Amino acid sequence: MIREVLRMGDARLWQKSVAVARFNTQELNELLKDMHDTMAHLNGAGLAAPQIGVGLRVVIFGVHANPRYPDAEEVPDTVLINPVLEPLSAEVEEGWEGCLSVPGMRGWVPRWRTLRYKGFDEKGTFFEREVEGFHARVVQHECDHLDGILYPMRIRDFTRFGFNEALFPGQELPAEE
Ligand code: NI
Repeated sequence: MIREVLRMGDARLWQKSVAVARFNTQELNELLKDMHDTMAHLNGAGLAAPQIGVGLRVVIFGVHANPRYPDAEEVPDTVLINPVLEPLSAEVEEGWEGCLSVPGMRGWVPRWRTLRYKGFDEKGTFFEREVEGFHARVVQHECDHLDGILYPMRIRDFTRFGFNEALFPGQELPAEE
């Protein structure tokens, strides 16, 4: 079912989410189905459970090749539950981000360039990956939602935060997260 995505200002987006305790339950399966339906409906690159008002540590993301953005890096379709992130170096990289909870805007956000993330898939199977660049950025953006952090809270240069049409007139932009 397509769910309403909460927008910045809704107090539920500032809450810290709690870990999933049980896998393979109807509740978790329905949550994941709703998250996938909602993300697909909005052509999003990622979605975190708190964005649909569910305070559980669950995120999904995935970015596919799109001829409109030949430079965009692909990210595999991933379900990540109870994630733990560890930067692999002190290197920080800035890049543009958008968020389904802050629609129509973009900001220039610093993130760890390389990191390892670990967690569980939808069946409760543990996995970990070492990633960099855009993949690392998407994971950090989504996992921030689980701690009540939206990307504008990480912006350092507010001259690089604004409405899509004002920042990038006439351009089509990649998906929001
Ligand atoms: Ni977001």
